[in-house]
Amino acid sequence: MGLNYYQIKKNILSARKLVIRATNLAGSGHPGGSFSMAEILGCLFYKYLKYDPKNPSWEDRDRLVLSKGHAAPGLFSNMAIAGYFPESELDTLRKFGSKLQGHPDLKCPGVEFCGGSLGTGLSYSIGIALAGRIDGKNYRVYTIVGDGESDEGQVWEAAMTAAKYKIDNLTVFLDRNFIQQDSYTEKIMPLDERLEGDDISEMWKDASRWKTGDKWRSFGWNVIEIDGHRIEQIDAAIKKAHMTKGVPTIIISRTIKGKSVEHMEDNPQWHGKAPDTDVVPIINQELDSQFMIAPSIIAGDMTNLANEVKRCVNGRSDYIHLDVMDGQFVPNKTFDHLKIKELRPLTVIPFDSHLMINEPVKHVRDYIEAGSDIITVHAEVCDESSFGEIHDLLKQSQVGVGLAINPDTDLPEWSYKFISTLDQLIVMSVVPGKSGQKYIEETHQKMIRLKPILNENNFSGFVEADGGVTLDNIGSIFADGARAFVGGSAIIGQQDVRGAIREFRNAVLKSRRSLLLQKAHELGGSELVQKWIGLHVVGEKQDQIKKIAEEANYL
Ligand code: DX5
Ligand code: ZN
Repeated sequence: MGLNYYQIKKNILSARKLVIRATNLAGSGHPGGSFSMAEILGCLFYKYLKYDPKNPSWEDRDRLVLSKGHAAPGLFSNMAIAGYFPESELDTLRKFGSKLQGHPDLKCPGVEFCGGSLGTGLSYSIGIALAGRIDGKNYRVYTIVGDGESDEGQVWEAAMTAAKYKIDNLTVFLDRNFIQQDSYTEKIMPLDERLEGDDISEMWKDASRWKTGDKWRSFGWNVIEIDGHRIEQIDAAIKKAHMTKGVPTIIISRTIKGKSVEHMEDNPQWHGKAPDTDVVPIINQELDSQFMIAPSIIAGDMTNLANEVKRCVNGRSDYIHLDVMDGQFVPNKTFDHLKIKELRPLTVIPFDSHLMINEPVKHVRDYIEAGSDIITVHAEVCDESSFGEIHDLLKQSQVGVGLAINPDTDLPEWSYKFISTLDQLIVMSVVPGKSGQKYIEETHQKMIRLKPILNENNFSGFVEADGGVTLDNIGSIFADGARAFVGGSAIIGQQDVRGAIREFRNAVLKSRRSLLLQKAHELGGSELVQKWIGLHVVGEKQDQIKKIAEEANYL
């Protein structure tokens, strides 16, 4: 059954941090290509791959072939988290005698293929997939190929072979991050249409330029194109691949090299370079500061919620916040699980169900069956026993567990025992019951007061700010510690949802950049601030960050 969306997200974050640690200690390695495939590996390791870390050569295991073997730190960090070896082993990366070398080596139990000389992993994968079929085995083979790697002719020979032999127990991911060893793929050997200039975002904007999929279709493959950093899209694509018979499937995953660390993103320099020791703590803080935007659809047309969901999808929201109100816990009634069930087929974007209802323990199963990805209930209508029941049921059902507190409610003592396994804590910043209210300013202090309690109890989920969040206050709410932001009237209430979400994201980004500069200044004064700014060489990032540093007098 695997882990749920939130737990996969958490493991992906841990894996990225291990990559930074390992490459920094080794003084070399490939963080860029490890980060572009981080979500793909997360879905494979924590939801789909069948394996036993205690019995790495189990003959019925699924096989994961990392054809782009240079991204070994990404593979090894996930193998450690999955239990093949202690995470501390990553400290020996690239050291003499270590089983964790610069490229995967069969000396490391669990490694399936010595990737590194590019272009050969797909051929190898076809061999083991065919062998599995001939032996009557039902293991699956998953292979990750680099886009630059697919300049190699052998990849296309293998593509023809897989189609000829109808290899449908093989699922290939193309890590389409548009960068290879020393420049952009579209400058060296275009797979899509030629990239003019250095602005990769040009390649993202215009899908009509995307020709890579046509190449694989013309070789007889089933092609699925996704955003390779969206867990829900990777999840859905793997499910589709499993159901596709008689042809091999390639999932062309549009990714960002160095994803999650701004100065590494889309920057060819980080194909094969290790981060310096003095910036590792700042990078880790940046990794801990991923954030999600969750539009609340009740701020839209309540008679056409399907259209509100579509507006969220077009707006590229991270979650869809569903405010269930029963007219008892709050005076208003909105909708119940039947509406969620009706909306579910419209999108794979995670449904963030916020239950403002009495006796949630009696109804929570309905909301699981309706397709919620996370269910948040209010502490005001729970106690240790009823919330314990909800918590356990959600965990068993692989649904995220959320707890919400009203503005005048503190975190109840009985809840402390659940904090370490909570996926989300909603800190209401309006009195629940409707959208369009004003943010209650005391919530800033409340969030800051909550931090030590959450830290002491090993909270590893996300604090969600819910109610009255706007462009003006979201930056300070992020600084308070929130990482998920509900936007009702400020997003769904706007004409242009995509524009509103983009502005929300930019406002949080500005706040995050300023927190990272503050960290740099604390650690190393204006010298480290200068160095941190200097790392950001792509686009206008450097000027934008420098301006923040000047305003804060860090320079
Ligand atoms: C209020 C709900 C909130 C609200 C958010 O009870 O829980 O999610 O809809 O809407 P805004 O952002 O407009 O306050
Ligand atoms: Zn809500």
